[in-house]
Parts: sequence; structure tokens; C-alpha cells
Amino acid sequence: MHHLWLMLLPFLGLVSVAPAEKGLEFPRYDGKDRVLDINDRNYRKAMNKYSMLCLLYHEPIPDSKELQKKHQMTEMVLELVAQVLEEKDIGFGMVDAKKDAKVAKKLGLDEVDSVYVFKEDRVIEFDGLLSANTMTEFLLDLLEDPVEVLDNALELKAFNRMDEEIRLVGFFKNQESEHFEAFKEAAEQFQPYIKFFATFEKTVAKQLTLKMNEVDFYEPFMEEPVTIPEKPHSEEELVAFITKHRRPTLRKLRAEDMFETWEDDIEGIHIVAFAEEEDPDGFEFLEILKEVARDNTHLPDLSIVWIDPDDFSLLIPYWEKTFKVDLFRPQIGVVNVTDADSVWMAMDDEEDLPTAQELEDWIEDVLSGKVNTEDDDDEDDDDDDDDDDDDDDDDDEDDDDDDDDDDDDDDDSDEDEDDDDDDDDDDDDE
Ligand SMILES: *[C@@H]1O[C@H](CO)[C@@H](O)[C@H](O)[C@H]1NC(C)=O
Repeated sequence: MHHLWLMLLPFLGLVSVAPAEKGLEFPRYDGKDRVLDINDRNYRKAMNKYSMLCLLYHEPIPDSKELQKKHQMTEMVLELVAQVLEEKDIGFGMVDAKKDAKVAKKLGLDEVDSVYVFKEDRVIEFDGLLSANTMTEFLLDLLEDPVEVLDNALELKAFNRMDEEIRLVGFFKNQESEHFEAFKEAAEQFQPYIKFFATFEKTVAKQLTLKMNEVDFYEPFMEEPVTIPEKPHSEEELVAFITKHRRPTLRKLRAEDMFETWEDDIEGIHIVAFAEEEDPDGFEFLEILKEVARDNTHLPDLSIVWIDPDDFSLLIPYWEKTFKVDLFRPQIGVVNVTDADSVWMAMDDEEDLPTAQELEDWIEDVLSGKVNTEDDDDEDDDDDDDDDDDDDDDDDEDDDDDDDDDDDDDDDSDEDEDDDDDDDDDDDDE
């Protein structure tokens, strides 16, 4: 009786929140096992059976109950994605780093807690947030054609609005053109992270100021594209150009490749800007930031990561605690990716955002090393010789006064958040 009651509970719960209407039935895991336990005997078959195979390479299953629960949670994410995408001919599997070490080696899996997608002869590493939403979107993007064709002015308009994305667009004679073929092959290597477009229409090409076989590269937030020199291009030339120019001056942190972006630090640091696009102050700050990025896009060492806190709600408390900033206000700072130590630009007046000039001066100070995360470190160093109360020298005048609660900087509990952080060092798109 007791059991029956317990079994009914979730069902009753569902009834009480779900309206009688149809059309918004949010998927819940139905309990069916779809994710394969990949091993030496079944991996070939799985590879051949599906058009895409999505494998989670995970740590050996631990003995502790708690850690097992954590592992199950991750598996549930995969199960839900597998359920939602059941009709799409995608296989899902788990590869145990210890038990299945042989298979992992054969498949070239090297980064524990990463997801690898096998599609035809390519392996795409998913280095984003392991949530069902993000994974699903990623896999659906991978199912699409690597090149989207722009047929008319309306589609061109949509293309022009995608200014947050790195994108390429080329003009070709037709689908059969060998140069279009090379473009497509290149596109496959960056799918779904970099968007590729093509047009076969003279009128569209004219508006894009593209000549036959020409390819333009659009950096995010820049007004003008760069034309890739020396058309026509082979696949290799396109790949080389994109690889070289891939790191933009201003990039938005995206769930689908957030870890990859974070690992692409510049000598151990990131310049990070928090701004909520939907918030008037955040929006205005972003406009200033874009202006500064456009004026300084020639600086090879400048790459600002813009984070819209709205996209990462679960991380807001962690960031506020770690960086000691108010994320309801726009912020820009330098973060050391080794220890998450940070300094933030003082925005003197609560009401006043910095001008483009002030922001530019500050960025210059960061690039020259004048503003850095180390200068204020004396008092929270772990070397026990000079750990006395207050030796905070006031040498950096544009720094906020930060002895308020700096001494819990090394607080280990901050690290707990990091557990699903896959660290792969660079893009393996090639
Ligand atoms: C980042 O922090 C680490 C550890 O505290 C330190 O060794 C390193 O010099 C810092 N890097 C920069 C660029 O400040």
C-alpha cells in the first residue's frame, strides 16, 4: 500500500501542474535505458548503426554513494537527450575511463568528462555545459547542413543580425562548383561552432559586395568583414585562415563551448565583462564595449569575454562570491584563470558608466600589466612570513579598495562548482 502510494505521488504531482491542454508537454525522463554501456565488443556496431554517435567519456564509477549519485545525474542528462532525440538516428553511450580504457584509446578519447560526437569520419568534441538543453541544441545543429544558403534579401537580413557569431559567407557559381565544395568541406570542420553561409544569387552577392568565389570572414560585433585574400580558396586555405583569425576581440560566452572559450585564455588571464543585454545599463555598457572593441581589433592580444549573466543563472551566486562583484551592474575586470583571482574596474559613480575613452585607457593598463591581479596579493599570500594584518600598499590608484574580505580568496569551497569543468586545451576541429 505504502509503495503504491509512493509510486502514485509523482503521477499526481504531474497532474496537478499540467494543464488539460496539449502542446506544451515538457519531456521528462521516461525511465527507459537508451544510453549504451560502450565496451570493446559493442562499439563497432554502435558506430555503424547510427548516423552520429555521442559518447560521454567519464571517470571510473566511484565507490561512494554520493559520487555515484553525481554520476547518475550526468547519465540522466544523456538519457533525456537520447529520449528527446530518439527519432534522429543518434546513438548515445558511456565510456568508462578505467574499464573501457582500450576502447577509449582506439577512439582517441583523452579528456575525461568530455562528450565526443562521431559523425562520419569526424570527431567533434563538445566542450560546453552538460545540460540537456545545451546538448540537444548542439546535436540538432550538427544534424543540419554545414552551409546555409542565402537565397534572398530576407535571408540576408537574418544573416546580418547574427553579429554575435563568427561567420563566413561566400559567393559561388552553383552547388556543383568545386570552390563551393571546398567551402563546404571547411565548414564541416567547424560545425556547429562557426557558421558558414553561401549564396549563388548575384543580387545577394552584390549586397554583400562579394565577387565570384570570394569569401568574407565576419568577426563578432565588427561592422566590416575581412575578405579572405587570394580567391579561390582550397579547403586547407580556408581552415588555416579561420584557425588563425578565430579568436575575436570581443566574444560572447556561450553554453555550447564555454569551457573551450575559457581555456583559450591569454597568458593566464581573461578580460571579462559582465553585462545584461536586457538591462538598460548593461545594454549601454555593451555598446561602449563594442565601440572599444572595434577601435582596437588590430591588437592581437586583446580578447574580451562578454558574459550575459542571464545566460548562466546557475553560476551567478558563484561568480558574485568568487569575484566579489555585483552582477546586477555592468562590470569589467581581469580574471586569472589559475586561481580565479580578479580585479575589477572601478566605476566611480554608481550612475555613471565609463566612457569609451576611460574603458580604452583601462584596457591599455591591463595589456601593459599596470592593472593586474597580483599587485594586491601580498596580504592573502600563503607564505606565512608576512601574513600580518594590513600591508596593503596603495600603489595602484585606480584599484578599488579591496581589503574588505579579500582574505577568503583561497576559499576551497569555491572549487566545488568546478566539477563538471572539462578541460581540453585547444580546438580539435581539424
Ligand atoms: C595567476 O595566478 C597564479 C597563481 O596564483 C600566478 O602564479 C600567476 O602568476 C598569475 N598570472 C598572472 C598573469 O597574473
